[in-house]
Amino acid sequence: MPEAALHVGSGKVRELYALDDDRLLLVASDRISTFDVVLPTEIPDKGRVLTGLAAFWFARTRDICPNHLLSLRADGRSTECRRLEMLPIECVVRGYLSGSGWKDYSATGTVCGHVLPEGLSESSQLPEPIFTPATKAATGHDENIDRETAAELVGADLFAEAERISLALYGFAAAHARERGIIIADTKFEFGLDDERRLVLGDEALTPDSSRFWPADEYQPGGAQPSFDKQFARDYCESLGWDKTDPGPELPEDVVAGTRGRYVEAFERLAEIDFDAYLADPEVVLR
Ligand SMILES: Nc1ncnc2c1ncn2[C@@H]1O[C@H](COP(=O)(O)OP(=O)(O)OP(=O)(O)O)[C@@H](O)[C@H]1O
Ligand SMILES: [Mg+2]
Repeated sequence: MPEAALHVGSGKVRELYALDDDRLLLVASDRISTFDVVLPTEIPDKGRVLTGLAAFWFARTRDICPNHLLSLRADGRSTECRRLEMLPIECVVRGYLSGSGWKDYSATGTVCGHVLPEGLSESSQLPEPIFTPATKAATGHDENIDRETAAELVGADLFAEAERISLALYGFAAAHARERGIIIADTKFEFGLDDERRLVLGDEALTPDSSRFWPADEYQPGGAQPSFDKQFARDYCESLGWDKTDPGPELPEDVVAGTRGRYVEAFERLAEIDFDAYLADPEVVLR
C-alpha cells in the first residue's frame, strides 16, 4: 500500500491512488479476467508485464502525443502519472473485424458509422484501420457510438484530434508488433486534458488488457482467433462448461504457468528486453 496516498478507485485489474492534486499512482494487480469475469486465481507478474509494456510504448510515442507517465516505481507494477481530466469516450481503433465490431458489421454492414465493404468475415483485416469510439459505461459493457455522438460528447475539435492521434498511435504500434509476430487486432486509448487543455494520452496503452493481441503465425480469418495471452485460460474455462458468470473457476498450476509464459513472451517480443532485466530495473523500458 503506497505511503500517504488516498485510494480513489478500483478497477477490474488496477488500483488507483491520489498522490497529490496533480499526480496519481496506478497499480496493476495480477488479476486476470476472462469473458469479463475476474477469476479467483492470479497470474504472477501479469501486472508487471502490463505496466512495463505500457511504459515501453509511452516512451516511444512521445513524438506522436504527450502522455501521462511521470515515473515507474521499483516494484514494476506502479506508474506515477499526471492527473488528467479524462474525456468521456474510449478511443478504439480497429485494424481487424472482431468482437463488437464484427457483431455490428454482421448486423448492419457498418461499425460506428463506417460503411465497410461487403463480404468481410470474422477477423478479416480492414482495408484501413478505423476509429470506433465508445462510451465509458460505469457498469456493464461499453457501447459503440457513431462519430457524431462522440463529437457531441467531447466537441468537434477534440474529437478530430483524438481520432487522428489514435490512428497514428495504432499505426505505429501495429507495424512494430507485426514485425515481431503479433497482430494488434484492435486497441483502446483513453485521453485526458492537462492544465493547459492539451490532449494527453492516459491510462494504459497497447497492452494485452487494452487490446486484442493475436499470434500472427496462426492468423486465419473466417472465425474467432486465439488470444496471444489469454487463450490457455479461456480454453480451460470453456472446457469446464462454465457459464461465464461470476464467480469464475480457479485455474490449475499448468494453466497459470502457461498464461504467465504468454504474457512474458508478449513483453519480450514487443519490447525486445528480457523480462528479468525489467524486474531488476523497470526503467529499462524507458531507455
Ligand atoms: N492520468 C489519469 N488521470 C485521471 N484518471 C486516469 C488517468 N489515467 C487513467 N485514469 C482513469 O483511471 C481509471 C483506471 O482504472 P481501471 O482501468 O483499473 O478501471 P476501470 O476503467 O474503472 O475498469 P476496467 O478497466 O476494469 O473496466 C480509469 O477510470 C481511467 O479513466
Ligand atoms: Mg480501464
